[in-house]
Formats: sequence, structure tokens, C-alpha cells
Amino acid sequence: MIKIAPSLLSADFAALGAEVAEAEKSGADWIHVDVMDGRFVPNITLGPVVVKAVSAHTSLSLDVHLMIENPERYIAEFAAAGAAVITVHAEACVHLHRVVHQIKELGLLAGVAINPATPASAVKEILPDLDLVLVMTVNPGFGGQAFIPSTVHKIREIREWANEIGHDLRIEVDGGIAEATAPIVSEAGADVLVAGNAVFGQSNRAAAISAIRAAAGGAKLG
Ligand code: DX5
Ligand code: ZN
Repeated sequence: MIKIAPSLLSADFAALGAEVAEAEKSGADWIHVDVMDGRFVPNITLGPVVVKAVSAHTSLSLDVHLMIENPERYIAEFAAAGAAVITVHAEACVHLHRVVHQIKELGLLAGVAINPATPASAVKEILPDLDLVLVMTVNPGFGGQAFIPSTVHKIREIREWANEIGHDLRIEVDGGIAEATAPIVSEAGADVLVAGNAVFGQSNRAAAISAIRAAAGGAKLG
């Protein structure tokens, strides 16, 4: 079952409450929240205070993507702020196993993201512990970048490993996802599609979400 997760990075930051409410009404499944620290990535965005404020305006799961160094310092705060899913970058964690279990012990879904230059094998050992792997399809830091096709084989590889061990893993993709790229990633095995510009950059968000969903081959049930 495909999930569409609009990324707030392309929303109107002066009206985040209204933006998430509209995304929910428009058929979004999760709300993707990009947290950037100006160190792991060049850009700076928002922290737990904003996540908490946004959570009051939607009943959808908040899918928090931490593009920050030392994410272990902030897991509890993002959980308290209302995150349902927390994803950390493999490249930012020396003790990835410990951080993943820190997230799970708080009762949240735990995800690990890998940058375009990071091999799929970076998550192989820890796959049974994960609820989600986020395969970055752009270099993290900014919305509206072009999809990098050479990342697609990693989706396929990770889906095969998950199937081999009978693990019901979510594979999320993030960056340059739109109607044209959705079928490529869903065919490879991705089932959570983040879309910033392709949803919040459009005036008709409902049409944008259903176009991406249809292109990915997943009609929404219920
Ligand atoms: C990039 C972020 C993405 C971004 C995607 O670093 O992680 O979530 O918002 O934006 P689009 O869909 O516009 O490429
Ligand atoms: Zn993201």
C-alpha cells in the first residue's frame, strides 16, 4: 500500500497549520517534516517546537526526517513533540543500532536514511531492527532538486533483502518525486513517497497527491 508523504519544506512556513490541514484534506497519508541543522546539511529549518505546533493541526502521522549531526541528543524531544516516525541518517550515527533502539523504545517507528553516495549495505546488518529505510533520491538539504536515477537500484536491493528475511519493511524515497518518477521508485519497491515541490508547490494539492498516487500504481483504499 503506497503512502504519500508531502514534505513541509515546500509549504508556506508562515502558515504551516493551514498547510498541513490542507494536505490532510487533500489525501496525504503522512506529513514529512525535514529537520536540518546547518551542519549535516547546508540548510537550517525547524526543531521540536515547530513539530509540536504543527501536530496540533493534523491527525496524520508526522514523519520526522532528521538531517542533523548527533541525532541521539534530540530523539526524546521530537517524540514528545508528536513525531510518529523518526528517521536518522546512517552517515550521522556512529552508534546507529543504539539510536534506532532509542527511537523504538519510545514506541515510535524507526527509520534510517542513506544519501545517494552511501551504499545499500550501510543498512543491511540493521535491517531486521528497522521499520523503514529512506533511500535519498537527491542529496539532502533542499527541496525542488532533480531526481538522481542511480539511486534506484538500492531500493530494489533493500526490498530483496527485506523479502529474503520476511521483513515487512517500509522503503521511503525522498527527493525529486513527482508523477514522472513515482512509477520508477514504486516498481523498484518503494512504498512511502515523499513529495515536496510536487505537492506544496502546486495550487491543487488534492490533484497533485492523487496524480502521484495513481502514477505509483496505488489507489487509496479507505
Ligand atoms: C531534501 C528533503 C526533502 C525535500 C524534498 O533534503 O529531505 O524532503 O523536501 O523536496 P522535493 O520533493 O521538492 O524534491
Ligand atoms: Zn526529507
